[in-house]
Amino acid sequence: MCGIIGAIAQHNIAGILLEGLHRLEYRGYDSAGLAIIDDQGHVQRIRRVGKVKALHEAVAHQPMIGKIGIAQTRWATHGEPTEQNAHPHISEHIAVVHNGIIENYQFIRALLIKRGYCFTSETDTEVIAHLTHWEQQQSGGSLLEVVQRVIPQLSGAYGAVIMDACHPDVLITARSGSPLVIGCGLEKNFIASDQLALISVTNHFIFLEEGDIAEVTRHKVDIFDKNKNSVKREVIKLQLKYDNGDKGTFCHYMQKEIYEQPIAITNTFKNRFKYDSIYFSELSNADNVLLSQVEHIQIIACGTSYHAGMVARYWFESLSMIPCDVEISSEFRYRKSVVRKNSLIITLSQSGETADTIAALRLSKKNGYLGSLAICNVANASLLRESDLAIMTKAGIEIGVASTKAFTTQLTLLLMLVVNIGRLHHMHVRVEQKIIKALKVLPTRIEQILSITKDIENLAKDFIDKQHVLFLGRGDHYPIAMEGALKLKEISYIHAEAYAAGELKHGPLALIDSNIPVVVIAPNNHLLAKLKSNIEEVRARNGLLYVFTNIDTGFTNTDRVKIIFLPQIENIISPILYTVPLQLLAYNIALMKGTDIDQPRNLAKSVTVE
Ligand code: AGP
Ligand code: GLU
Repeated sequence: MCGIIGAIAQHNIAGILLEGLHRLEYRGYDSAGLAIIDDQGHVQRIRRVGKVKALHEAVAHQPMIGKIGIAQTRWATHGEPTEQNAHPHISEHIAVVHNGIIENYQFIRALLIKRGYCFTSETDTEVIAHLTHWEQQQSGGSLLEVVQRVIPQLSGAYGAVIMDACHPDVLITARSGSPLVIGCGLEKNFIASDQLALISVTNHFIFLEEGDIAEVTRHKVDIFDKNKNSVKREVIKLQLKYDNGDKGTFCHYMQKEIYEQPIAITNTFKNRFKYDSIYFSELSNADNVLLSQVEHIQIIACGTSYHAGMVARYWFESLSMIPCDVEISSEFRYRKSVVRKNSLIITLSQSGETADTIAALRLSKKNGYLGSLAICNVANASLLRESDLAIMTKAGIEIGVASTKAFTTQLTLLLMLVVNIGRLHHMHVRVEQKIIKALKVLPTRIEQILSITKDIENLAKDFIDKQHVLFLGRGDHYPIAMEGALKLKEISYIHAEAYAAGELKHGPLALIDSNIPVVVIAPNNHLLAKLKSNIEEVRARNGLLYVFTNIDTGFTNTDRVKIIFLPQIENIISPILYTVPLQLLAYNIALMKGTDIDQPRNLAKSVTVE
């Protein structure tokens, strides 16, 4: 789930591996490790629980020198985050790093124990090391040939890099479900699970396809598909900027990313407004013909991206009159569903590498959808490459595990897509122009909210000793309540639930007492009167209310009702605006609680396992 990196060069590569691991830290992990083959042909390994910094310090005390090596940040799936379980895993002269899960590891482990292998960890990964060793002892051959015999025996979704001290001039890497990229250099080559790990050493990348196994030496990269055929994969030149090295005046990346939202949204607009219309240069005429045939939209996504999809459903149905369903990828992929006529699959993902969303997309291809469209924030991500159509949000790299600017740019882009598809389905030009006008003021309105953070900091104090928080919203602000609750639980570890306010009396009202804060998203729209009744239901039970609303809604501050006024904005884009104070609320509560805001416990940035 987290990160793997491998390097082979003419010089010592330990520093490159450590730097790469630092660049992968944003993905969230619990331990880190590194192995190199030294000049005497021995595998040297150091592993540490906790941050890469601890590994870095250990390497400083016990220098590691070698021209070939592998390293990993681990997000434990099998076995606790201990040093024993940290990667790389070794079987005599063979060392392996791995992301993902080997689903049949118990069977292989039992087999290998019978063959006399001794396991030193509880991980699924260790079977790859011993199985490679076994295959080599049994039938020999090059490391590539050995790995080509090992891989068909493994099932699951994974990416792995394998090296062998008996062949110190080659790294083998295999992709099955987890992303892998090869970075090409001059007399040196690299492998990583994320191109960001390699941007200080190269800007030439080869993205491996599903089932690929690559043989990487100092001088060349040979790639073979799952049928062992030699294949050519394009070398792509990317000008990646890694502007996260510096948090500037911000305390956390999450805070920086919240503040970057006006510019991220502006970048998402860039070159997409033309003559009072919305256009996507990524979509060809043929793509637009396909979109004009769409009669149903099926959105699939996970987590925060799923919440963006939920908002988009309201927009698709009310603005472009196209029926739309939204489903969590991990549910969709295991459910027998009826495919509507001319249905378009839209996948939403910040990372573009979320295993469940990719699996759901692959499944949809077999099921007769009209086509697939991915909305993603990371260039060249698997989801983009596997979809018929792809549009990028331009949020810039998002480091904080809790997604913020990726969400608001997803919403922005989705609304623009609703308009683009709506126009193809005869949306009135006046509606399009009204939405464009509203979108254009959005960055300024968000800036206004970012200048009233003192009010939100003051509110945060009320929450730090609370165990549970309830979020309420209605209509297209119900998913925003869900997103507010998700942000709070992710980074403050306070239990938070969101309800459609109309559901209150169907159960959650039982929770209300003088101790549970209820956060209400109450914009001045056609549902305000209904929401006010729900607020009264809470008030009547002595609940503690925190109401986010606009001026002119008639709310007044009392002892038990605190009102936070937000700038007035067109109703259609109000869900985007209302997200920001909820992000700030979660952030400030977590700050006061002193949690690890950028890398909350147990979470990873990119969920590449199911
Ligand atoms: C967001 O704060 C979460 N960390 C998480 O729910 C995330 O949105 C989810 O894992 C989906 O990720 P994706 O957008 O990269 O597919
Ligand atoms: N499943 C492996 C383990 O638990 C790899 C986890 C990861 O992707 O970091 O060690």
